[in-house]
Amino acid sequence: MVVQPAPEHPLDLMFPQELISSEVTKELPPGLIMRPLASTDYKRGHFAVLSVLTVVDDLGEDAWVAHFQSMRATPKTYYSLVIVDQVTDKIVATGTVFMERKFIRGLGTVGHIEDIAVDKSQQGRRLGLRIIQALTHISENTGCYKTILNCNEDNIAFYEKCGYKKKEIEMAKYA
Ligand code: ACO
Repeated sequence: MVVQPAPEHPLDLMFPQELISSEVTKELPPGLIMRPLASTDYKRGHFAVLSVLTVVDDLGEDAWVAHFQSMRATPKTYYSLVIVDQVTDKIVATGTVFMERKFIRGLGTVGHIEDIAVDKSQQGRRLGLRIIQALTHISENTGCYKTILNCNEDNIAFYEKCGYKKKEIEMAKYA
C-alpha cells in the first residue's frame, strides 16, 4: 500500500488535533486517519461525502473556504472532523459537534452532533461509530453537560450502538 507522505506545509485546521481522542483514532482501520477539518478539504471531497446525507448545493471552493473561516472565527464553537484515506487523500467520513452556550444549568453548554456522513463504499467499517465517539469526547472534554442529536427512525439503532438513548421529539419549521 502506498501511503501519502505528510504534507510539506502543516494543514490549516479548524481546531487542535489534540482534542481528538487517541483512544478512538487507534481503532481506525489501517490507512485511515482522523483529523480536524482543514481549510483545503474542499478539494478532498468534503461535499461529496456530505451528499450521502442530504442535498449539497456546491457554491464553489471560495465560498466553502469563507464559510470554514467564519466558523473558525467563532471560538470554541464548531468542531468538524474528517476521516481521510491516506492512499487517495480523499475524505471518507465526516461529522460536526457545535456548542450551544445556555443560561440554564449554571450557564451550561450543550454539544449538538450534526451532519454525520460516511461514504457509501466505507459504510459498515465502524467509521460512523468512531466519528460519534470522537465528537462525544470533544463535547464532554470541553465541559458540555449533555450531547444531543436528531436523526430519523432508520438510524436509531446506529446511535444506540454509539451509546445514545431516544429522548423527546424534534419539531421543525422550514422557511
Ligand atoms: N441500523 C441498525 N444498525 C446500524 C445501522 C442502521 N441503520 N447503521 C449502523 N448500524 C450498526 C452497525 O451494524 C454497527 O454495529 P456493530 O457494532 O454491532 O457491528 C454499529 O451500528 C456501528 O456502525 P458503523 O459501521 O459505525 O456505521 P457506518 O460507518 O456505516 O455509519 C451512518 C453509520 C453514519 C448512519 C452511515 O451509514 C451514513 O453515513 N449513512 C447516511 C447518512 C446518514 O444517515 N447520516 C446520519 C444522519 S443523523 C445526524 O447527522 C445527526
